[in-house]
Amino acid sequence: MSPMRSFFIALSQNKPIRYFAEHSRFGRSIQSRFVAGTNIEEALHAAEVLNRLGILVTLNSLGERATQPDEARQAAEVYHQLLDRIAACGLKANVSIKLTQMGLGFDPALAESITLSLVEHASAIGAFVRIDMEDSSLAQSTLNIVRQIHSMPGLAGSIGVVIQANLYRSLGDIEQLSDEQIDVRLCKGAYREPHSIAFPNKADVDSNFIRLSCVLLDSGAYHGIATHDKEMIQAVESYAAQQAIPPSHFEFQMFYGVRRDLQRRLVREGYNVRAYIPFGADWYSFFMRRLAEHPDNVLYFVKNFFRW
Ligand code: FDA
Repeated sequence: MSPMRSFFIALSQNKPIRYFAEHSRFGRSIQSRFVAGTNIEEALHAAEVLNRLGILVTLNSLGERATQPDEARQAAEVYHQLLDRIAACGLKANVSIKLTQMGLGFDPALAESITLSLVEHASAIGAFVRIDMEDSSLAQSTLNIVRQIHSMPGLAGSIGVVIQANLYRSLGDIEQLSDEQIDVRLCKGAYREPHSIAFPNKADVDSNFIRLSCVLLDSGAYHGIATHDKEMIQAVESYAAQQAIPPSHFEFQMFYGVRRDLQRRLVREGYNVRAYIPFGADWYSFFMRRLAEHPDNVLYFVKNFFRW
């Protein structure tokens, strides 16, 4: 493990520093920048504010992977409450969930049945459930669950998945998902993967991201392109213009609090933009784990603090 990674993992587990972060003004200012609060009300407030700016949202309740059925059911309950509130408040919002929070790590059948009940709930109120993609060991089981639920009567269009451009398998997955008209969020991929299954170089991930974006745009189904990278965004804009694909046929997605300038510019230019809003009491570990996964995010953080 790299020294930086060990450093942030140690920080994520350090109780005094955690206490300081959670209770100091500095800690709260970091939290409020990247995490929309610690409870549903605060997350809904952030969603309302963004909706007023013309930005769509997806809400994610932060939490650890479940290790017991009760934990998975409790995690799902938060999303049921969110879906009710999204409908009651008339928000332009959907939810993004992680299947390990729903029990995928120890009982795939439980994760599928919990996810099915969330998708049925979303479908009943005209909302949508996005399944975030975790590390590659979970890719096939995640795709199987998404396909299975999408094929059930009345549920097509209420569930979508995420595909990571760093994996060699992704072109095949995208072609298959597009044939089935399943809504895909394309991202570069946040997990460290072995070179046997993933592009080791950033330039190759970027080229693959552009290639896969074009396949998604050509598919005719509605998809999300998730990146803060100006070059990726420009490539997508140019390809869509060249092929006369209207901006209403896809959306750009970015993290809450990151490149807000870019988010607003794209809205002004007529694109659909969706912000991914994480919330929950577990924001400190979430933030530190993101830094541990990508220590270079510290540089982004310092460089972009005033631009974000
Ligand atoms: P990349 O990291 O290549 O950086 C390129 C440029 O973008 C930088 O030079 C900088 O200008 C800008 N930039 C990038 N990050 C920035 C930041 N934090 N602040 C300021 N500027 C920044 N991953 C995954 O494995 N599974 C998933 O389900 C998801 N879901 C997801 C949803 C959404 C809405 C987003 C935006 C991202 C994800 N991801 C994800 C994460 C994704 O895989 C990836 O790790 C990050 O988006 C960073 O990659 P970028 O394409 O943004 O740019």
